[in-house]
Amino acid sequence: MALAKVCIGLLGFGTVGTGVVRLLTVERERLESRTGCTIQLKKVLVRNKNRPRKVLIDNRKLTTNSSDILDDPEIDVIIELVGGIDQAYRYILRALKNKKNVITANKDLMASYGDELLLEARKNKCDLCYEASVAGGIPILRTLTDSLAADRIQKMIGIVNGTTNYILSKMSHDGLSYEKALASAQALGFAEADPTSDVDGLDAARKMVILSHLAYSIPVKLDDVRITGITDVTKEDIAYAQKLGYTIKLVGISEVNNGTIDVRVEPTLLPNAHPLASVENENNAIYVYGSTLGETMYYGPGAGEGPTAVSVVSDLLLVIHDMKLGITGTHIFLPKREMHARKDNLVESQFFVRLHIMDQPGSFSRLTDLFKNQGISLEKLYQEPMVGQNAAEVSIVTHLTNKIQFEKSFDIMKKLDVVLNAKYFRVERG
Ligand code: NDP
Ligand code: HSE
Repeated sequence: MALAKVCIGLLGFGTVGTGVVRLLTVERERLESRTGCTIQLKKVLVRNKNRPRKVLIDNRKLTTNSSDILDDPEIDVIIELVGGIDQAYRYILRALKNKKNVITANKDLMASYGDELLLEARKNKCDLCYEASVAGGIPILRTLTDSLAADRIQKMIGIVNGTTNYILSKMSHDGLSYEKALASAQALGFAEADPTSDVDGLDAARKMVILSHLAYSIPVKLDDVRITGITDVTKEDIAYAQKLGYTIKLVGISEVNNGTIDVRVEPTLLPNAHPLASVENENNAIYVYGSTLGETMYYGPGAGEGPTAVSVVSDLLLVIHDMKLGITGTHIFLPKREMHARKDNLVESQFFVRLHIMDQPGSFSRLTDLFKNQGISLEKLYQEPMVGQNAAEVSIVTHLTNKIQFEKSFDIMKKLDVVLNAKYFRVERG
C-alpha cells in the first residue's frame, strides 16, 4: 500500500519519551528515507505542560488530555511511555479498539496483561510491539522470536535490570554505599519512577516472564517466579564472594526441564570467569542456551534515554513496514502450551554461605560435621579471625545440592550455639 505519511501520538515525555523525540528529530531524514514516508509526531501526552523539557518541541503539541491522541482518527501509531499498569492498560486497550498500532516499553503491563492485549491487537489487525520492555537497547525479543526461531531454547540467564547492576557495580568497584549508588541510578534515568520494583527484583522478574513467554511459548505467571532483590546485599558479602573468586549480580534464571519450568530472580554468585560476571553498570546481558545452537550471549545498555529510544523507534520502523504491506497484527506471538512450575525439591544448585562463628576450639568442626551429616559436600572454605571480637568470619561454597536439603541444613546451622549469624546466596556454575 502506498503510504505517504505516518502520524504518531506519544504518551509520556519522560526519560524514554525524550529519547524518542530526540531520535525522531535528529535521525528524521534517514528514517524517512528508509521508510519512504513522512513521520509526523502529532501530539504528546504529559502530566504537566509547563515542566521544562530536555529536547526542543513545539509546545502546542503537548496535551494533558489522552483523548486528543487516542481518539484522533489521523493518528496511526501510539507510543506508550507513561509507565505503570492501570492507566497504561486503559490507554493501550482504547488505542487498539480504535485500530491504532501500539508500541510500548512497559514491562509491568506486558508481564501481567500481555496476552490479553496481544489478543486484542490480533483481533483489531494491529501491531503491538514491546522490544524496549526487556533489556533496554538490546534487541532480545526479536532475537528470540525471529533469529533463534529454529532452535529449542532450554535455559536463559540474564542480568536484566540496569539499576541493580549499576548499584552492585558501584558498591563493588567504587566503594559507593547502596543509598548513594541508587540515587545516582535515579539521577541518570535508569530507575523506575518507584525504584522499589528495581531493587526488590520485581522489574527483573517481569522481564524474565516476558523472555520465558517468547522463548518457550509458555504463559509464565509472575506469581510463579521466585523473587529476591538486592536490598540485603552488603559490601562485605561482595568482598567475601570476591575472595572466593565470585562476583555478586542480580540474576534472572529461566529453565525448562522434564516438562517443568523454573524461573527465579535472586542475587547470585557468578564465577569471575563467567561472561555475565564482567557485565558492569547499567549494561544488561542475556545468556541463551539453545539445544542446537549452543550458548549465545546478547549484551548492551539495558536502560537509559538513548538505548531504550533506539528499541522503541526500531519498533516504529517495523510497524511502518507492516502498514505498507497491510500485514499489521499478523505476527502477534501468543503462548501455545502450558507447563507447571518446578517444585523446590527438584531444584539443585550450589550455595555460598557467609557466617560468623565463635572463635573457640571445635567451632569449625561443628559446622563441617553438620554438613557431613546432612549429606552436603563442600567445595570451598575460607576462614579469617574478626580482630578483637573473639569470632571468625567463615565463607563456604557447597557442591551441587538439593535446595530443600540445603535450606533444612542452613536452618539447623543457624541454631548452633557457636553460630552468631548467617546468610546464603545461590551460586551459578561457570
Ligand atoms: P518517566 O517517569 O521518566 O516519564 C513518564 C512520563 O509519563 C512523563 O513525561 C509524565 O509526564 C508522563 N505521565 C505519567 N503519568 C501520566 C499521566 N497520568 N498522564 C499524563 N502523562 C503522564 O518514565 P520513563 O521514561 O523512565 O519510563 C517510561 C516507560 O518505559 C516505563 O514503562 C518504564 O518502565 C519503561 N522503560 C524505562 C527505561 C528507562 O531506562 N527509563 C528503560 C526501559 C523501559 P510529565 O513529564 O509531565 O511528568
Ligand atoms: N528500571 C529499569 C532498569 C529500566 O533499571 O533496568 C529498564 O527497563
